[in-house]
Amino acid sequence: MPEAQFVPKSDTKALRNGSFSWQSPSNIALVKYWGKYGEQLPKNASISFTLSSSCTTTTLSFSEKNTEDFEFEVYLDGKRERTFEPKIIKFFERVEVYLPFLKEYHFKIETSNSFPHSSGIASSASGMSALALCLMSLERELSNFEMAEAFFYKKASFLARLGSGSACRSMEGELVVWGEHSKIKGSSNLFGIKYPYEVHDRFKNFQDTILLVDKGEKQVSSTVGHNLMQDHPFAEQRFQQANDNLSRLIPVLENGNLPEFIKIVEQEALSLHAMMLTSQPNFILMKPNTLEIINRIWNFRKETKSNVCFTLDAGANVHVLYPEHEKEEILGFIKQELVPFCKQGEFILDQVGFGAKPL
Ligand code: PMV
Repeated sequence: MPEAQFVPKSDTKALRNGSFSWQSPSNIALVKYWGKYGEQLPKNASISFTLSSSCTTTTLSFSEKNTEDFEFEVYLDGKRERTFEPKIIKFFERVEVYLPFLKEYHFKIETSNSFPHSSGIASSASGMSALALCLMSLERELSNFEMAEAFFYKKASFLARLGSGSACRSMEGELVVWGEHSKIKGSSNLFGIKYPYEVHDRFKNFQDTILLVDKGEKQVSSTVGHNLMQDHPFAEQRFQQANDNLSRLIPVLENGNLPEFIKIVEQEALSLHAMMLTSQPNFILMKPNTLEIINRIWNFRKETKSNVCFTLDAGANVHVLYPEHEKEEILGFIKQELVPFCKQGEFILDQVGFGAKPL
């Protein structure tokens, strides 16, 4: 069912051709989204840190055409990338009702990532977010009505969600919530919102060092993964746990209680993987080196009382999270003790960021 607020008024200006560019970051969930229903709607609320250096830059060029179908070409780092096309056709079909001009133009989508394509870092969140923002810039340009900034981002997030769920959390910084939650005012299943409450300074420049343990193709696509939650024996408990963890995080984000933050974030990471371990079919997405890194983080924390912790996506790579004021000591530990467990010693230094930028 189309969401009426996002269907534009039909009256538009004429525009023959042009282009828009956006740079959009990736994000890392603290409370994880895993399980969906309907058209990309989450079974539980999630919250993420927006990242800073891991991002996608996209230029959308458009020119008027007279044919009936969607017409576009996608280029990754200057090379035609046909493997992205089915996902974009599906996305265009889903959002056409909200962007009725899609069939009026031929599009050239030129995209590049700040991280290597084969790094195992999902580009779907930053990529879909950048594309949705380019499309919103076009809609705004075509519109005869003034578009409020807040609506621009809200609809961009709504569209990005229809491309890849977690992409809706990549528009703004520094913390974004997606999914209705009784304790978070304005939260919605339809789009992400900037976390609306007080955040301790400590979390505003939190560090994320991404350890590339396995750089190959994803073993399980997120579509397959989310679907495995449908008949999962622990599904309801998991959705409840995620919503409860988000409730627990609200005071922690305000008062900067790092030990409590660590408990919640690590439980979320391991619960996400526990769902895959216990689904049918089962998946083990962690590698021996993932476990080695986790154990070393735990030992280091025990020995030094440091506030370093980890989180995981649906893969083997490890996001090492820590406060900026402990950076020197923790980075030394990471380089000496954890990097040897990365594929070809590769890692990405990132930190909390402020959201997408028009170029
Ligand atoms: O946005 P998707 O459908 O690729 O799902 C992402 C799911 C996780 O990254 C595992 C968790 C999350 O909330 O980002």
